[in-house]
Amino acid sequence: MSASGTYDAYRGRLETYFDRTALKAWEQLTSDAPVSRIRATVRAGRDRMRDTLLGWLPADLTGRTVLDAGCGTGALAIEAARRGAHVVAVDVSGGLIDIARDRCPAELSGGSIDFRVGDMLNPAFGRFDHVVAMDSLIHYPIGDIVRVVESLAARTDRSIQFTFAPRTPALSIMHAAGKLFPRSDRAPAIIPAAETLLRRRLATAPGLRAWTLGRSSRVSGGFYTSQAQELMLA
Ligand SMILES: C[S@@+](CC[C@H](N)C(=O)[O-])C[C@H]1O[C@@H](n2cnc3c(N)ncnc32)[C@H](O)[C@@H]1O
Repeated sequence: MSASGTYDAYRGRLETYFDRTALKAWEQLTSDAPVSRIRATVRAGRDRMRDTLLGWLPADLTGRTVLDAGCGTGALAIEAARRGAHVVAVDVSGGLIDIARDRCPAELSGGSIDFRVGDMLNPAFGRFDHVVAMDSLIHYPIGDIVRVVESLAARTDRSIQFTFAPRTPALSIMHAAGKLFPRSDRAPAIIPAAETLLRRRLATAPGLRAWTLGRSSRVSGGFYTSQAQELMLA
């Protein structure tokens, strides 16, 4: 299933990037292994963001279903399952799913995780109480982000939390500078989204009529900037 004409192309590029080009770097960044000072700021920011998103979920997730959409190496899924959730953790990168499976503790207090390789929009994964997409939509343009959220909303019963890259002067400069590199040398760009515009598009999206915008929280430090947005079924 596809959210739009550009969604499939972006997803394909991200699969190549996370499954090949950046697999080792991503494995290292999401571990306790030493990293450069720049990456250490990214790791610290990502830890804060994960805590923010997990903090918006009920402390006790017993009996709840959670989709970790674009789960990467699985840290958020593991924490949700520790709290009792039944998690489907999906990522388009099979290499990252292999790492996530290896890292997953055999015993999760009451919960479980079903790791899947594929598209987060595949309706075959079923319905969920909560959907969390941490930094998995930051490489898509704003129109795709809204369509993805609408598509996820159609099979979500309580809340959706996703992050976007807020349009800040620093991120806009980095985005512009990235375009100077030859295409083959580039990591998929993080595409900044203007917060006000994104909120307006979410508020007026036909597929989100039954939803209200909830909390929003920006995490910014060193080389990491990302903003969490919550939506709740009204
Ligand atoms: C920046 S990483 C974040 C991973 C994880 N959420 C975390 O915070 O550690 C983005 C992830 O989203 C995945 N992804 C992007 N688009 C996806 C899609 N349409 N379906 C499934 N996974 C996707 C990528 O493969 C990548 O692992």
